[in-house]
Order: sequence, then structure tokens, then C-alpha cells
Amino acid sequence: MTIAGRLKTETAAAHDRLDARLDLLQGREHYAAALARFWGFYAGAEPQLDRWHARAPLVDWPERRKLPALRSDLLALGLTPAAIDALPVRSFEDDPPDAGAGFGWLYVLEGATLGGAVIARHLRKARTVPAAALSFHTLYGRRLGSRWRAFHAALAAWAGDDRARGDAVVAGALATFAAFEEWCLP
Ligand code: HEM
Repeated sequence: MTIAGRLKTETAAAHDRLDARLDLLQGREHYAAALARFWGFYAGAEPQLDRWHARAPLVDWPERRKLPALRSDLLALGLTPAAIDALPVRSFEDDPPDAGAGFGWLYVLEGATLGGAVIARHLRKARTVPAAALSFHTLYGRRLGSRWRAFHAALAAWAGDDRARGDAVVAGALATFAAFEEWCLP
């Protein structure tokens, strides 16, 4: 199976659990609280991905950072800059990703952006959240599909048919799903 197929299959249960538990349509307060937890997760993970990318630039990671969009949404939801800076951050200092794990992390974060377009559609329909607070869930706009394919092309070029590399990516993705669930839905 391709690495893309393996990731989708082997993380499906973790994704479905999150999807079932993360109800983002409950209302503005609930949405703001969820994004505040997302913020803490990405604020810990993104500096690690910066270092991962600095060691070996295997994909256009810097253009994929999500923190600016999360910040802008939290501001639109009424948080002050000081309140955002004071949010708890999930530390990944003890667990920096190697080449394979970094791809696994990024698969999960890029996948959340892919699924985000669907979530944004539901949020717009439910009208529970101001449109100005939807930038995290509408990242990449029309380039969403091409950016997802470009990520997978870079991943496939690195992993090839190498079983051990594929295993490392899948393990990194599963660990990221688990950390995300533990942090956002304790
Ligand atoms: C309310 C919660 C969620 C819903 C409703 C949801 C929905 C979706 C949908 C509809 C897709 C398919 C998109 C497409 O193929 O165009 C998708 C893909 C994906 N989502 Fe989610 N998602 C949710 C939460 C999350 C979260 C929190 C994460 C990660 C932290 C995540 C990670 C992924 C990944 C990795 C994929 C790609 C699967 C693949 O390999 O094709 N999702 N999601």
C-alpha cells in the first residue's frame, strides 16, 4: 500500500474518535475554548516542526504554519493578545520529531486543514461563529487540494517503498492524534 493509503487506513480509528468527540458547532463560547486548546497544541508543535525543517527541508513547511490563523480567529472571538499569549502550551521539547515522525505530525496537521473546509461549511450554516473567526478552518482557500497533493508528493518522494520509513511516519501520525486528543479532549 502507498504511504498515503497506510496513513489514512491506520489512523482512521483515531480520526473518527476525534470527529465524534470534537463538536465544534455547539456555539461561540465552546468554539473559542476549543480553538484556545488548538492554539496551545500548535504553539508547542510548530517550533518543533521549524527545527525539523531546518535540519532537512523536505517539504514547504514554513508556508503551512497555522498559528497566525489561530491567533486571528481568537482575536475575532474576543480574546486579547495578552490572553492568547497566556494560554497553556503543550510542550514537545522532550520528543522532537526525526525525519519520519515529522512527516507523521505534518500529515495530521495538514489533514486537519483539509477536513477544516468541511467544518467551515458546517460552521457557516450553523451561524454560531462570526465569519471573521473562520480563518483556521479555511486555510489555503482554493489551493487546498493542490497543497494536500503537494504534501503527499513530498512525503512519497521521501518514503518511497521503504517499509521502515513508512512505519516511522505512521507512528508519528498516531502519536500526534493521541497527543491532540489528550490535550484538546482530556
Ligand atoms: C469536528 C471534527 C472533524 C471533522 C468533522 C473532520 C472531518 C474531516 C473530513 C470531512 C475529512 C476528509 C476531507 C477530504 O477528503 O476532503 C478529514 C480528513 C482528515 N482529517 Fe479531519 N475532521 C475533524 C477533526 C480533525 C482533527 C482534529 C484532526 C487532526 C488533529 C483531523 C485530521 C484529519 C486528517 C489527517 C485527514 C486526512 C485523511 C486522509 O488521509 O485522507 N481531523 N477530516
